Amino acid sequence: MAAIEITGGTALEGETWISGAKNAVLPILVASILGDEPSRIGNVPHLRDVTTTMELLGQLGASLAVDEQMNIEIDPRGIHSCEAPYELVKTMRASILVLGPLVARHGRAVVSLPGGCAIGSRPVNLHLRGLEQLGAKVSVQNGNIVAEAPRLTGARIVMDMVTVTGTENLMMAATLAKGTTIIENAAQEPEVIDLANYLKAMGAQIEGAGTHVLTITGVERLGGAEHRVLPDRIETGTFLVAAAMTGGCIKLTNAAPHDLDAVLDKLSETGAELASGADWISLDMKGQRPRAVDITTSPYPAFPTDMQAQFTAMNTIAEGTGIITETVFENRFMHVQELQRLGADISLKGNSAVIRGVDVLHGAPIMATDLRASAGLVLAGLVARGKTLVDRVYHIDRGYELIEEKLGQLGARIRRVESVEAALAERTDS
Ligand code: EPZ
Repeated sequence: MAAIEITGGTALEGETWISGAKNAVLPILVASILGDEPSRIGNVPHLRDVTTTMELLGQLGASLAVDEQMNIEIDPRGIHSCEAPYELVKTMRASILVLGPLVARHGRAVVSLPGGCAIGSRPVNLHLRGLEQLGAKVSVQNGNIVAEAPRLTGARIVMDMVTVTGTENLMMAATLAKGTTIIENAAQEPEVIDLANYLKAMGAQIEGAGTHVLTITGVERLGGAEHRVLPDRIETGTFLVAAAMTGGCIKLTNAAPHDLDAVLDKLSETGAELASGADWISLDMKGQRPRAVDITTSPYPAFPTDMQAQFTAMNTIAEGTGIITETVFENRFMHVQELQRLGADISLKGNSAVIRGVDVLHGAPIMATDLRASAGLVLAGLVARGKTLVDRVYHIDRGYELIEEKLGQLGARIRRVESVEAALAERTDS
């Protein structure tokens, strides 16, 4: 199984670019099936989850073409199936996003009920309840969600919890409902705004994207549209933390610096010097060791849970003690045990991690368990003495395009190896 080998100790210097946002491109690709004309989506990152989504849309009957710049043409007119099978849904939970569009556009959807994952049980009850409020008949049969409605009808939906894909699923479904839908306690993430912008370009009538209250006035049909996916704020934050941990100085282009204010505030607290323009952001640590920070994750615009593992990694080598509290997912500290293998001093108390900064981490073979945990482990490898091997790197390929090339551009000594065993065998041979 492929792994990533990092030789720590280099301060990151230089410039690299940010790819399109995974958590925007997935709902946007799916939203194209609401239309009855082709769409063209640009700035698409080359990620496993994008490939999986394209496979899923292809299985539904859409036709897709990709050019060498990863622009994707999608023609939804050939859609003949409303079934998202288990073998695809089990590899990517975001497949649940086809539920709303299929019911809204084709009157029926059969989507495998997503199971849990490493970071939590990840229920979809709010997706289903919202669809019922829009008039769909929803049941779970043999592990599949079956949702049907000749035509959805607008409703006022108050979300019990802020859910990103729950908000996106219901917003998409409401675009073709009869009448007006109000979604209260809606997610405000930039990816929700990007999806709303694409839907409006297709002809949807949506007000309030980026606020807690969405108002969607249903229309009879949607067309196609051209849309460029917004930059990935989590990839941006990940590379900025890498520079802060290694005492480096980097610049990131094709970025959206105004989508991660809560992260930038915390980076400033560590002592980093930040600067930004319309589509770039830079961080200069001036060779200093970062100061420890306290973090509590929460829905946007507060500190994002997808940046928690990266800051946990940073606190392991920071000056002082930092407390990180995870309030969004119930099991998102799987990276802690792996960081302890490198010598980190972390104690878990409920949904909080108390991290005492140590002067040195020592490289060792460690195991990725989920997408953002694996990013945190790679960052720790950048500062650990000697070599760190991060196994099960397929997790990281789900959400980071060309991560070893980009970090390599910044001076990191990082390479993909066939397996941990092969890399270890190389050492004994040399
Ligand atoms: C989205 O997941 C992102 N994925 C996640 O990114 C991100 O961590 C998460 O939002 C929070 O920001 C995509 O956008 C594809 P939620 P989502 O529904 O929508 C509970 C990454 O690393 N909940 O906002 O699945 C849920 O259990 C991934 O890029 C219900 O109880 O997350 C969680 O505790 C990981 N019932 C909380 O809400 C529901 O019906 C927030 O989850 C839905 C959610």
